[in-house]
Amino acid sequence: MEAAGPRSISVYLDDDTEPLATYRPPATFQLDTTKIEDGEHLLRLSAVDALGTSGTRIVRFTVRNGPGITVTGLRDGSTVHGMLDIEINSFGGDEPFDPERAESHGPIPVWTWVMIAIVAAWAGWYGLEFFNTPAQFAATPTYASNPALAAANEPADGDRVQKAPAYSGKGAAGGFDYEASGAPAYATNCSSCHGAAGAGVPGAFPSLAGDPVIRANDPKEHITIVLRGLHGKTIAGQTFGATMPSFSQLSDQVLAAIIDHERTSWGNHSPTITPDDVKRAR
Ligand code: HEC
Repeated sequence: MEAAGPRSISVYLDDDTEPLATYRPPATFQLDTTKIEDGEHLLRLSAVDALGTSGTRIVRFTVRNGPGITVTGLRDGSTVHGMLDIEINSFGGDEPFDPERAESHGPIPVWTWVMIAIVAAWAGWYGLEFFNTPAQFAATPTYASNPALAAANEPADGDRVQKAPAYSGKGAAGGFDYEASGAPAYATNCSSCHGAAGAGVPGAFPSLAGDPVIRANDPKEHITIVLRGLHGKTIAGQTFGATMPSFSQLSDQVLAAIIDHERTSWGNHSPTITPDDVKRAR
């Protein structure tokens, strides 16, 4: 029995009753849109098989051979009132693409304003934060150039050396801030050898936790070693190849803060000292 494949396929444009052409499938054909009016159209394809049953398929399309038109200021289906400013533009379909002509002016989209607002808000916040330097960072190079702080830090006598705050011992309210000065100064000057937790490195740098010099009630030796440096001493049965450098270049205040940090950290509970003690030991 022969298969009932399609025998013919006819092509109709819009509502035409006469087909443009009839082909034996499969077929290729050309549609000359310049012969069709600009606008919406449909192509109707009607196929009939060997048994006479027909099938239809419709393809909708828009022809635009004439110039394109853009309208700004009035959108399809919008509700309007009063006077409207409407901009109209037209560009040819056969001309090479020209953005100046093809793109008409449009309003700045809302999201652009939102982005601008976010960037502006961030910039404002950043500016405020910069001038709102936390006290413990005020003297760091990053913030020292801040004009607001420079004015605040300027010593009254014109002396450019930065003044340490008045010292009043560990824990004294409103005085020299122990946590804010001793720990960071220790971290800067001492922790590279003795470790952040004062544990040292066996055979290289002594542990400062439980160290007899630091545990001693009399701080004299502790102060002297930090001021003058140390080498060749046997500590807790160990000798050390490295040399403990002298730190006499640091101010009395900073040395007192570091020494107090060592005397009250890592399980050490020794009496604290003052900058005057350091000054006398120099
Ligand atoms: C370059 C490495 C190094 C740095 C930095 C360093 N030390 Fe030392 N420190 C040593 C060495 C090594 C010894 C032991 C020297 C010896 O006995 O020969 C030592 C010993 C000491 C001792 C003596 C311990 C004892 O029982 O006699 C104290 C206290 C001490 N250091 C405190 C400090 C302080 C405070 C700082 C920071 C201001 C510091 N060290 C920075 C290497 C260092």
